[in-house]
Amino acid sequence: MTRKTEKLFPDAYGLDKAIALLNAGELVAIPTETVYGLAAVALNANAAAGIFAAKERPSFDPLIVHVPRAWQSSADLIAANIFSATKMGLKQKTVIDALIRAFWPGPLTIVAPKSEKIPDVVTSGLPTVGARMPDHPVAQVLLQRLGQPLAAPSANRFGRISPTTADHVIDELDGRIAAVLDGGPCDVGVESTIVAVGQDGSLTILRPGGVTIESLRHALTFELHSSMIAINFPATTGESISVQAPGMMASHYAPRKGMFLMQPGTSVRLARRDDAAIQMIKDTVSRQCAGALRIGYLVPTGSPELHQKSVESALGIPVTVKSLSPKGDMVEAARNLFGAMRSLDDDSHISCILAESCPDNMGLAFAINDRLKRAASRSL
Ligand code: TXA
Ligand code: MG
Repeated sequence: MTRKTEKLFPDAYGLDKAIALLNAGELVAIPTETVYGLAAVALNANAAAGIFAAKERPSFDPLIVHVPRAWQSSADLIAANIFSATKMGLKQKTVIDALIRAFWPGPLTIVAPKSEKIPDVVTSGLPTVGARMPDHPVAQVLLQRLGQPLAAPSANRFGRISPTTADHVIDELDGRIAAVLDGGPCDVGVESTIVAVGQDGSLTILRPGGVTIESLRHALTFELHSSMIAINFPATTGESISVQAPGMMASHYAPRKGMFLMQPGTSVRLARRDDAAIQMIKDTVSRQCAGALRIGYLVPTGSPELHQKSVESALGIPVTVKSLSPKGDMVEAARNLFGAMRSLDDDSHISCILAESCPDNMGLAFAINDRLKRAASRSL
């Protein structure tokens, strides 16, 4: 496809056009509260296959399906041919219903046995499917009017930084997809949390994201009056999760430039003239960014001016700082993460990027640290 991608707005013309394109089997990028998704009608196997081609995504990396607000329970999802009518256990349904009550619409993807109606191309041949009810008015209007699920991965080329504005989508996929529907910048900024729910009702976190682990625990206790639900974290134990969530490769969300992780608090230590920290950052730059004329520096919190001063005085070269939330609000930090990475990547004066991770994994910091680690791993 060589034609230019049309930018649509969520007015009467834009919505009608997006729906007509989707019904015709075309690809349309849509806003969600997490990141922009590249949508196709999920029951149309050819359209879903087009997503893999446009993104250059390997066929073994399954898509999640997005559902309209009306489908509010495991029974609704079974009736709508998303989840299997025969392969779901009672405990599994009870836990799924509790998760739906607590978090939908919102940034939680629930993985469970799939209906036979979901084409194999969508799930990369897996017997399960991930379902999510997005909390974005534009996505919901489309889903409601279409009356069927939309398969939608993040609307970036495979392995690249996820888009949180319509312009990011154009940067990634211009000419490869029919249209992008501009619904403004995404509110959450990191993708959904993905949980697989087992037959026994246990949960496995396949990807940390917009719903925090703390709120998952709290909701299960509150909804089911039980703190006995097991929550497994293959993503944090170092164990490979390649079989369970094939898309969760070590290298993902990656800038084109080298990005290197710094210890949390490095810049603060530099401000205190901590010799070990100065040596460490100098070594990193001379090893990884030799000859750099300007460095990008990403920090979760704190004043950009102060960070700039301390890093520049340690390195002796100009530094462009992006602070994800100067006031230390992790919700704001998550919202700004991918845009900040992208702007450092796009700045032609910057040779490479140093990034500090968050000091702990509490709340949204878990997802932010996960994304930073995967963005950096390609170059480390
Ligand atoms: O917030 C989000 O989840 C965004 C927006 C657009 O909804 N979507 C998104 O999709 O992040 P994607 O494809 O970039 O990431 C979804 C990941 C896949 O990479 C895959 O690892 C995992 O979900 N996944 C999908 N179906 C699965 C399944 N049946 N079993 C295990 N993992 C699955
Ligand atoms: Mg993605």
